[in-house]
Amino acid sequence: MILVFLGPPGSGKGTQAKRLSSQRSWPQLSTGDMLRAAIQAGTSLGREAKSFMDQGALVPDSVVIGLIGERVKQADCAAGFILDGFPRTIPQAEALDSLLSGLGRQIQSAILFEMPDSLLVGRLAGRRTCPQDGSMYHVESARPKKDGVCDQCGTALIQRPDDQEEVISNRLKVYHRQTEPLVGYYRERQLLRPIRADQGLDQVTQGLAEVLK
Ligand code: AP5
Repeated sequence: MILVFLGPPGSGKGTQAKRLSSQRSWPQLSTGDMLRAAIQAGTSLGREAKSFMDQGALVPDSVVIGLIGERVKQADCAAGFILDGFPRTIPQAEALDSLLSGLGRQIQSAILFEMPDSLLVGRLAGRRTCPQDGSMYHVESARPKKDGVCDQCGTALIQRPDDQEEVISNRLKVYHRQTEPLVGYYRERQLLRPIRADQGLDQVTQGLAEVLK
């Protein structure tokens, strides 16, 4: 099973990908997480990516296509995987199709997380993440047991640099301009499965389970 999670920033792709990944043992392949790991490791790829990410712009296609190309060939992807935040442009989608066809594989569904922009800003501005293990929280909807501290490992939570309000508005513009055309791309291929993402966490999980039946 190969799934693409498509949707605007803050629509809950990462949260639901983590839940599904732990239920089904399909790895979550998040290009955003891979890029942030490269930034933390101080690699040249990380330095290049940071200048785009801090402004809410997309990292060049060649960089993320290269990352995914390496990752999908690893053994843990054999039974299936969840692409969280990739592809994000038509050239990325085309590169993915050709990569998978070279491996004799194909996407089963592109899940579209539908949510209005007006609600996304609150989701992103309130998000807090653990820099140690990647756990995600929200100051209102998913609070840690102790304010500002990760439940899993006790590390102090941070706000992502691109979750500042001025960067959020650019990320939403970039989504509509560069990523939304993928809705038509996957609809034409009869792979698009929209779900309502403007509901509580468990309702979204249930909506996802329904479309995967
Ligand atoms: P990336 O890390 O992929 O960010 P994104 O797509 O902008 O998505 P987010 O992680 O912001 O949101 P999400 O939908 O996963 O929501 P989440 O579950 O966290 O990319 C970051 C940057 O990297 C990009 O801007 C770009 O520069 C670069 N990049 C990455 N991939 C790229 C690519 N393919 N090509 C080029 N550049 C690329 O939830 C958000 C918050 O809401 C959390 O606090 C959560 O707790 C809360 N929440 C979630 N669901 C619910 C719910 N149902 N109810 C209430 N609260 C909820």
